[in-house]
Amino acid sequence: MFIRHLSLASFRNYETAEVGLGQGVNLLVGPNGQGKTNFVEAIRYLSTLSSHRVAGYQPMIKQDAPQAVVRAMASHQDRDVLIELELNRDIPNKARINKSPAPRVRDILGLVNSVTFAPEDLDIVKRDPSNRRTFIDELVVQVWPRFAGVYSDFERVLKQRNTLLKTARQTGAKGSALSTLDAWDQSLVSYGAEIIGARVELVERLRPHLFEAYQSIAIANNEPRILVKSSLLGQAIPNGWGEEAESEELEYIQTADRGEIEQLYAAKLATVRGKELERGLTLVGPQRDDLVLMLGTLPAKGYASHGESWSYALALRLASIALLRAETRTGDPILILDDVFAELDAGRRQRLAGMVANNEQVLITAAVAEDVPAELVATVFHVEGGVVTGG
Ligand SMILES: Nc1ncnc2c1ncn2[C@@H]1O[C@H](COP(=O)(O)OP(=O)(O)OP(=O)(O)O)[C@@H](O)[C@H]1O
Ligand SMILES: [Mg+2]
Repeated sequence: MFIRHLSLASFRNYETAEVGLGQGVNLLVGPNGQGKTNFVEAIRYLSTLSSHRVAGYQPMIKQDAPQAVVRAMASHQDRDVLIELELNRDIPNKARINKSPAPRVRDILGLVNSVTFAPEDLDIVKRDPSNRRTFIDELVVQVWPRFAGVYSDFERVLKQRNTLLKTARQTGAKGSALSTLDAWDQSLVSYGAEIIGARVELVERLRPHLFEAYQSIAIANNEPRILVKSSLLGQAIPNGWGEEAESEELEYIQTADRGEIEQLYAAKLATVRGKELERGLTLVGPQRDDLVLMLGTLPAKGYASHGESWSYALALRLASIALLRAETRTGDPILILDDVFAELDAGRRQRLAGMVANNEQVLITAAVAEDVPAELVATVFHVEGGVVTGG
């Protein structure tokens, strides 16, 4: 798929922008701080309803404006779809698909598929579990858009359950509070098992693509493999004080069977109930799980070199592209390479250029055009002060 036309209004540093994009490679060039990343962020947001830079959408609304609008004419196999998204400071956000109001904003998911690779992706390999959960969960939602609803249901239940646990901690766990807790547990287990199962299944489907992508970037013998570690398994109760469990304490989960996971989840909740009441916090579930990115026999985190970590992060994104191409009806997702060529040596630049050249649409941002290999034939845009010219 590709985007024919993107319109922005009061989005980040853009007052308004109307940009016709081409199939193939589109190169956005301009000095630092002019709006290159902002432009591609708008496209990424349409496909994941999340940004690679911030949590929440408020920072995307232009300073002092009440609302931002992103409008894209997307084209899949000769069919055009107009997607409009309104981000509002004070009232709920709205979306329209081909001019008809969408019942929920998340109904636009699946219409624009994109994969972004940016220097921040190194965090997926090197940093906290939350980075890896975001990576896998965004991919789950793009491959199976109905999961957007499952995640939002899970988050709602988790929040309410945590509130209840907190209250129970303060007032002492009484009979009525405990039976309400039992009712929440059922929803928590059912949504949570869906999420964990989807992660396990997706990791399995990603595996051959990851292997291929890593080999083509790194020319190495080490096989990359992703394992899912879950707080539902093992004896240890994750340390509940911080936001993150110590993932060393978690064990690998292999089953994607929802019923089996539900049983594990319910059983684990029963064993940690006392601790949860003590701490006023839900201690187990997908919000506490982690992915382990293995390279050969060692985890990449803590062991891989800087260059290997880079290759791994890039391979995760290229594998995502291959997976989306294989598993969705929209064909090639849009590939966004935000500021990555400057970070690569000449050899890796060439290889990356070769790998992405045939994707249906690619958006590349660079402060200096010379960083992008000349053989990448591109439509070139200049970005300065929130104004896009060229094309
Ligand atoms: N909500 C907002 N309202 C107004 N301006 C904003 C908003 N959010 C970000 N900006 C401005 O946008 C600019 C950053 O734009 P962007 O990140 O797209 O730069 P860039 O062209 O990608 O630069 P670099 O080459 O350094 O990556 C900053 O000057 C920032 O102040
Ligand atoms: Mg940038």
